[in-house]
Amino acid sequence: MIIVNFKAYKQAVGEKAVELSEKCAEASEKTGKEIIVAPQPYDIPKVSGKVYAQHIDPEKPGSNTGSVLAEGIKKAGASGALINHSERRLEKDVIQSIINRCREVGLTSVVCAQSPEECGELSMLNPDYVAFEPPELIGGDISVSSAEPNVINEAVKFSEVPVLTGAGIKTSEDVEKSIELGCKGVLVASGVVKTDDVLEELLELCSGL
Ligand code: G3P
Repeated sequence: MIIVNFKAYKQAVGEKAVELSEKCAEASEKTGKEIIVAPQPYDIPKVSGKVYAQHIDPEKPGSNTGSVLAEGIKKAGASGALINHSERRLEKDVIQSIINRCREVGLTSVVCAQSPEECGELSMLNPDYVAFEPPELIGGDISVSSAEPNVINEAVKFSEVPVLTGAGIKTSEDVEKSIELGCKGVLVASGVVKTDDVLEELLELCSGL
């Protein structure tokens, strides 16, 4: 599985989010590999393919101005959500509430963690996945799988649930190594969103799965 996090990149909002998701769907169809897109919430209903939200809130429907509801993103077309991304950190009790909300409405939960210890700790909250992303490597040119293979290994050992990894992933070797180390998939952002040839990059990443 590859999750392409669109973040709030200008190359990946509005019409550009739609175009990017179409490339992801094309690469997925060509290779038979699962590619999930994670756009901004307002783009969820517009994009193609399997979609996760980048974030949801723990609130239930009611007087909660500004909340991103689990029900709302499900109705908009998402089938899962990232939770506690390094760029949107949350308290542990809030993470637990969001995991519970995901389960109530039938969304897959992917909880991000910054260290193997945190992977272990947050996996005890029983999300569907934990995603290990060392913050210092996010958005850079050195991948987590080349810089910290032993740390990925530890994250896999510490976690009670399947592990994904991300940060700096750009090549098929990065993906292959992550899978070899025991991960079920990868998260990618800048490597796909900022490249000139998105389809070529997606095909490259899929070949490592
Ligand atoms: O959620 C994925 C993300 O944080 C990784 O970002 O730009 O290093 O691929 P990037």
